[in-house]
Amino acid sequence: MKSLSLTIFGITSNLAQIKLIPALYDMAEKGLLPENIEILGNARTPMSKDEFAHYIENVLHSPNIHHTHPVKPEIVKKLLSKFHYISGHLDDPSFYAGLAKILRLNRSADKIFYLATYPELYHHIFENLQKVGLNKQTKGFVRMMIEKPVGNDLKSAKELNQLLLTYFEENQIYRLDHYLGKETLQNILTFRFSNGIFEPLINKDYINHIQITAAEDFGIGARGGYYDQVGALKDVGQNHQLQMLAFATMDAPSEFSSRAVTAQRIKILQDLIPFPTKAVFGQYEGYHQEKNVDPNSNTDTFYALKTYIQNDRFKDVPIYIRAGKKLAQTVTEISIIFKNPANRLLKHLDCSDEPNVLIYRIQPNEGIVLKILTKIPWHENKLQPEYMQYCYRVDPHSHYIPDPYERLIADTIRGDQTFFNDAKEVEAQWAFTDPLASTRKKPYIYKPGSWGPKEADELIEKDGRAWLEPSMDFCRI
Ligand SMILES: NC(=O)c1ccc[n+]([C@@H]2O[C@H](COP(=O)([O-])OP(=O)(O)OC[C@H]3O[C@@H](n4cnc5c(N)ncnc54)[C@H](OP(=O)(O)O)[C@@H]3O)[C@@H](O)[C@H]2O)c1
Repeated sequence: MKSLSLTIFGITSNLAQIKLIPALYDMAEKGLLPENIEILGNARTPMSKDEFAHYIENVLHSPNIHHTHPVKPEIVKKLLSKFHYISGHLDDPSFYAGLAKILRLNRSADKIFYLATYPELYHHIFENLQKVGLNKQTKGFVRMMIEKPVGNDLKSAKELNQLLLTYFEENQIYRLDHYLGKETLQNILTFRFSNGIFEPLINKDYINHIQITAAEDFGIGARGGYYDQVGALKDVGQNHQLQMLAFATMDAPSEFSSRAVTAQRIKILQDLIPFPTKAVFGQYEGYHQEKNVDPNSNTDTFYALKTYIQNDRFKDVPIYIRAGKKLAQTVTEISIIFKNPANRLLKHLDCSDEPNVLIYRIQPNEGIVLKILTKIPWHENKLQPEYMQYCYRVDPHSHYIPDPYERLIADTIRGDQTFFNDAKEVEAQWAFTDPLASTRKKPYIYKPGSWGPKEADELIEKDGRAWLEPSMDFCRI
């Protein structure tokens, strides 16, 4: 039987430890890992078969916020039977001859390569895979999984896309932004386009403004070396938050296909207008004391910005986006704030000017929630805001939400690129982000546990609006 190989370059990486190995375990547990798969892990350190097995077991048993359920010995055994280790330097051409030999011996016709390693090594990998013929789809498919960020600005993203296309076809390239693999994001498409009643309201006639928040109540941890070079805008703004915006505002795709869905996401990203004067950058107090951070660093750990989508549907609808570390709460959500009708009933009562808000809660308390006004049951009219809610984890639902990496690896095996970025998409994201990033000034310092610098509040308050305090009152487990 011809087999499928998944080669992970960087099997000892942080990414492999916190995401990929746990995701492969989960796939094995659910029977989603094809029987004929061989998983090859590569890094530089020599490891015997036993040492490698020990490493994988340790990873699975180490405390991991992303993988909280129990690890079953029989599943670990099954997974280990598929895993092999091949040590070698990715900048050493002789390594690839050995890799090709193993893949030939395994009769691996279908091949997936996963880049969980440094971008500086990519050109060695592509060039050397080509030299040993491993980029050719002669007897089966060859797919390349590549992590965000693709480049660190528009120029470098274009160069990397060009480099990839020198060795692979676009339909072989799977650019990952794990937000695209999130169940809570994908469900926005179903909510909007499989129901008839909401979509007619998603436009400038009904929407006052949109807010997108991605807040974490923790700092950069041990990732100082990486984070200090990148900052919040490039770490989550250029990718995750723009994807959230695209899902919430894109037009209906003509069909549920990779081509049609991606085309609509790209249109939104290309229509976004960057306003460098409407961006605020912050840094949490104490950031300079973090490990591997330059003591004079001006890196942003927070940003807030205002933008517009330049299309008829959202003409003049402001969009406010913020993200940051060491903020008051860990929460990611999109809020669509609707206009109040002029003839609203009971206008004189308290709360009567509370707008309806549609909230896509990505995490935690995952759900889709509509904030509405209701009458408090009693003999007189009194109003109160309430939530109509669909919750993923609350009775009557108790859905297991697959980790995005599990979903995206399975999609790559199936050859479904719907929830991966194509070259144009990544370039549109950078075209929006570059003008903001290049005009970044010294960040405002904010207190850990706050919602960022006061200048971020002023950004939205100038427009007579305020940031919504994300509610934990709905979809509570
Ligand atoms: N970490 C995350 O949470 C995260 C999130 C999103 C995206 N990413 C992306 O994922 C990729 C990996 O990031 P990371 O932070 O997880 O990396 P990392 O922890 O620094 O690991 C780098 C990996 O590359 C291997 N490596 C380094 N030089 C090598 C060489 N010359 N030959 C062979 N192997 C070599 C290392 O293995 P040895 O040192 O053992 O040889 C290690 O396995 C990057 O593209 C990053 O942008 C990471």
